[in-house]
Amino acid sequence: MDTIKLVQLEAKDWSKRYALQDFEMNHAKQVKAYHQSFPQYTETPLVEMTRTANHLGIANLYVKDESYRFGLNAFKVLGGSYAIGQYIAKKLGKSIAELTFGEITSPETKKLLGDLTFVTATDGNHGRGVAWTANQLGQKSVVYMPKGSAIERLENIQKEGAEAYITELNYDDAVRLANEKAESEGWIMVQDTAWDGYEEIPIWIMQGYATMALEAVEQITSKGLQPPTHVFLQAGVGSMASGVTALLAQYYKESMPVITIVEPNEAACLYETAKADDGDIHVVTGDMNTIMAGLACGEPCTIGMPILRDYATNYISCPDTIAADGMRVLASPTKGDMPVVSGESGAVTTGIVAQIMKNSELLDMKEKLGLTEKSVVLVFSTEGDTDQKNYEDVVWFGKYGK
Ligand SMILES: Cc1ncc(COP(=O)(O)O)c(C=O)c1O
Repeated sequence: MDTIKLVQLEAKDWSKRYALQDFEMNHAKQVKAYHQSFPQYTETPLVEMTRTANHLGIANLYVKDESYRFGLNAFKVLGGSYAIGQYIAKKLGKSIAELTFGEITSPETKKLLGDLTFVTATDGNHGRGVAWTANQLGQKSVVYMPKGSAIERLENIQKEGAEAYITELNYDDAVRLANEKAESEGWIMVQDTAWDGYEEIPIWIMQGYATMALEAVEQITSKGLQPPTHVFLQAGVGSMASGVTALLAQYYKESMPVITIVEPNEAACLYETAKADDGDIHVVTGDMNTIMAGLACGEPCTIGMPILRDYATNYISCPDTIAADGMRVLASPTKGDMPVVSGESGAVTTGIVAQIMKNSELLDMKEKLGLTEKSVVLVFSTEGDTDQKNYEDVVWFGKYGK
């Protein structure tokens, strides 16, 4: 089997951990209230896969199914739409707490704002969310996609009225191109990763992901389910993983679950950063040829990493076959459990849990993570079949099987 690698960081003393003042519970509730004002809002399902979990040798598996998010088949719109809301609130001299979807999309607001162009670089899901929000606002968007992006994802962005292109660049270079264009054309860059000097919008995007995590913990609590002992979070630049980790830390405090970050071998920049553990960010370069398109990012988000360093102890790097396994497990769970349609970047966390529990060669990893028959695992299936052709090839026809 292709390599699966784990790096473990020592758990830090709670009082010495990075302060989460940008991610307080009250703020998370405000983010959720903002999203709830969208007519398309409904809570996404939290699927309990108890039989599958028992079959794997753990007590329970909760899967937050983001394929139902705003009709866009992925969670990403939460970040882009919140950041655009915050940008507009700031421009209007208002607080986001006073702004609803209805107000930001009103003709009066449009008149006050004039013509705006939002620009971003994306594998698909983030760009679709930005394009959708800009479209709802009667504004423009331009989206640059890395080379090799799926035509279906491009077309879904174009359907939202965006000017969108598949470039000849890898993800990180596409981000640089979008940034240059924002500067030269006076466009607003809505990127889901931060670097020195570009932090306000990425923080808003990370805060936007709180809705997904808050819904999940509230669903667990209101259904009277056992809280998770382990949460597996997939990472591209790590904004989603750090936003969710911050919410879990605020909600569960010292009894927060063990957090494990999962990345593709070709783009394991958080894994490399954790492995070096020297306080610096470590990047991965090259084409990042992986089926996990949403995770094919080589440069960790600079504002996310300090949160993960202090609250996430495990970092896994794994091959594409694990994402494919996860897609199949979720599509075809143990009889009696509800299936979940999960794409490559959405399913890798389920794939790694299944592999670690079932593969005797990974016993050591299972022990290091503390996974036992008492463990309750929470994963976020962050996308549905956003690349339908590949979904069918993997789930129906066994592509990337062993
Ligand atoms: C479906 C999906 N899951 C997870 C992620 C990872 O998010 P982040 O880049 O914030 O780590 C992405 C990023 O685009 C994605 O599209």
